[in-house]
Amino acid sequence: MVVTVTLNPAIDKTIEITSFEIGELNKVENSIQDPGGKGINVSKVIESLGGKSVATGFLGGSAGQYIKSALQKLQINNDFIEIQNETRTNLKIFDRTSSDTTEINEPGPYVNALEVEALLEKVASLLSDNDILVISGSAPKSIHESIYSDLVLIGKKKGTSVFLDASGKAFESGIQAKPDYIKPNRHELELYFDHAIPDDAALVKAGKHFLDLGIPHVFVSLGKEGAFYCDKELAYRMLPLKIDAHSSVGAGDAFVGAFVYALDHGLSLDEMLRLAVATSAGAVMTVGTKPMNVEWIMNQLDRIEIVMC
Ligand SMILES: Nc1ncnc2c1ncn2[C@@H]1O[C@H](COP(=O)(O)OP(=O)(O)OP(=O)(O)O)[C@@H](O)[C@H]1O
Ligand SMILES: [Mg+2]
Repeated sequence: MVVTVTLNPAIDKTIEITSFEIGELNKVENSIQDPGGKGINVSKVIESLGGKSVATGFLGGSAGQYIKSALQKLQINNDFIEIQNETRTNLKIFDRTSSDTTEINEPGPYVNALEVEALLEKVASLLSDNDILVISGSAPKSIHESIYSDLVLIGKKKGTSVFLDASGKAFESGIQAKPDYIKPNRHELELYFDHAIPDDAALVKAGKHFLDLGIPHVFVSLGKEGAFYCDKELAYRMLPLKIDAHSSVGAGDAFVGAFVYALDHGLSLDEMLRLAVATSAGAVMTVGTKPMNVEWIMNQLDRIEIVMC
């Protein structure tokens, strides 16, 4: 079973505007609203591919209620800790002319120490041997970043494979507990090392740093340039699919979701990498965080080029 943790869920509201003008009156042409937050997005991708997961984390207020009922409609199992304060709403503005997306994210609600404790207990109670724990996205400001290493340790203690997808201090905290899988994007990696990662040689070197820390599987997502993977034996570059990009929001979550789905279904490394690249490209072709076209994704698998570094 896959358990996804979203510490800071959100209603993802995507509005489309013909040509977005800062400081002017902008007319909304289309508006959609989805349950979001990175772990929830991973659960949605798993569901789209025909898999199952349980989503947990913190939900509060009417936004929390909306997310819970939306997940139920999507038939995504969920078991959240109900908190006193209101879950956030994140706005994504899609400019139809430039195809740019502007994101406006709220920081998230105050979560108290008892609620944090309840979540750690919940995660431990949901997990058993051979499960996969996905810890994805940011935490509200009131939560200390050490929750990331706490969660990784809980997963490891329960004998699960732990996938961490977080940035900044959350990433730094999480990797101290040695998750099995990490997936920074290039920018997150550059922030961590405080220098540019311009080419494959730099990716291999960065990957080795994490392998030496005791993290056995390292991904780096490279946006429209594809992705990188390494473990102790090998290092691969996955070349990107050439697509008509619409919105890059959630591409990383699609990558993680597809990989985790493949891991849960016992696919080979080659199959897992192909599914992750094809699914994330599929996500880039859809508006907002809507489900992708699975038939299209499956037709791309043989077209993906994987080269050794
Ligand atoms: N323009 C694109 N063309 C083809 N594939 C893409 C494109 N953008 C992203 N992808 C695919 O999506 C994957 C993840 O993208 P990216 O590196 O942007 O993730 P991210 O920055 O973590 O995204 P997120 O906003 O979800 O956190 C890439 O590794 C690639 O496979
Ligand atoms: Mg990301």
